[in-house]
Amino acid sequence: MDRIRIRGGRRLSGQIPISGAKNAALKLMAASLLTADPLILRNVPRLADVRAMAELLRSFGVGVTISLGATLGEGDEMKLDAGRLTSTFASYDMVRKMRASFQVLGPLLARVGEAKVSLPGGCAIGARPVELHLDALKAMGADVWLEDGYVVTQAPGGLKGAHITFPFVSVGATETALLAATLARGVSRLTNAAREPEVGDLCRCLVAMGAQIEGIGSGELVVEGVRELHGTVHRVMPDRIEAGTYAIAAVIAGGEVELVGAVRENIAALIALLEKSGASISDTPRGLKVSRNGAQPRAVDVTTAPYPGFPTDLQAQIMALMTVAEGSSVVREKIFENRFMHVPELARMGAKVRIEGDTAFVKGVTSLKGAPVMATDLRASVSLVLAGLAAEGETMVGRVYHLDRGFDRLEEKLSAAGADIARIAE
Ligand code: UD1
Repeated sequence: MDRIRIRGGRRLSGQIPISGAKNAALKLMAASLLTADPLILRNVPRLADVRAMAELLRSFGVGVTISLGATLGEGDEMKLDAGRLTSTFASYDMVRKMRASFQVLGPLLARVGEAKVSLPGGCAIGARPVELHLDALKAMGADVWLEDGYVVTQAPGGLKGAHITFPFVSVGATETALLAATLARGVSRLTNAAREPEVGDLCRCLVAMGAQIEGIGSGELVVEGVRELHGTVHRVMPDRIEAGTYAIAAVIAGGEVELVGAVRENIAALIALLEKSGASISDTPRGLKVSRNGAQPRAVDVTTAPYPGFPTDLQAQIMALMTVAEGSSVVREKIFENRFMHVPELARMGAKVRIEGDTAFVKGVTSLKGAPVMATDLRASVSLVLAGLAAEGETMVGRVYHLDRGFDRLEEKLSAAGADIARIAE
């Protein structure tokens, strides 16, 4: 299995192109199931998760063709043709690999009137149940039951619009309800909907496909169902988690990096913290410039929250920065249980972190030491890469497949910006 080797202590400079957002692309791909016409997605990131979703869609009879972009900054183009669906079954093997594949449930049910999709099962970052997804579909009139670890749903007479109030914010459940509501009979109102920009991107694509959606970007989405949707061409939004990760890379390593394609508004909560910790962030015609020159970053406290709060998907990365900050910081994880798996690995590099429940107390040290470390999940693994950029000596990150799930050609992007980073094939 490949590993990533980082020799720390190099400042970063130059440009890093930001790819299309993984968490938008996967749901946009699922949206292709809603129409018999081809859906064309541009700026698709080159990721293992995207390939896994393509494989799942192919198993339903969807034609998927990909044209690779020529440069690192140019995304791929994907044509999805769900003209003839031959199956509505998503196996445990498929869903286990990637939880987002559960997201095919809503569109399959809405278009075909039935689906059988494996429950995602346990996950490295907490229980992650799906009852909100199922409650939403039930509210729209679907029969839903569990059978041998599978969710089976049927709505032979079609779905009907409903008022769904989510008891807490869930990105996935909002998207399941939204996708299903586009083809339901009548009006659906989704209250306490997730406001994450990826939900907005999905809404914009659905509207281009003929869906009627109001309240895009707000916590209340109103969807008037239509009889059918048509094809369109949609450009996937830039990945705010990737942009935020490379912003932190520039701050932890020091130097000045332009993040080409990054959108300030989408990472405002992170920018506020980075500025407080001593970094400078300015707008450029093509994105954002992030720099830190000289002084050690200062410690800041962080609490994760639904958008526009600080994203849980950047918690591990900001913690990596806090391990080398001046002073102590408190990092609270409010979205997922058990999302501190990077902490023992950071400790192997000399970080001082103590965990109590959902809170991590980080005491900054003046330097980390390179070490062999193990990636545990997607965001945890990239936090180890960030720590490696700041550490003295060599860091070897194992289980790189976690990184390949969500970061498009990370080592190429970072080495082009001056980092000493390489993939070691085994
Ligand atoms: C999505 C993102 C993930 C991000 C998360 C929160 C994708 C592919 N993944 O995951 O990267 O970290 O949003 O921003 O887009 N929950 C329940 N019951 C449910 C649904 C959710 O209890 O039926 C809980 C979850 O366990 C979690 C919280 O709600 O504690 C938020 O989860 P949710 O927003 O649904 O996350 P995902 O959509 O799975």
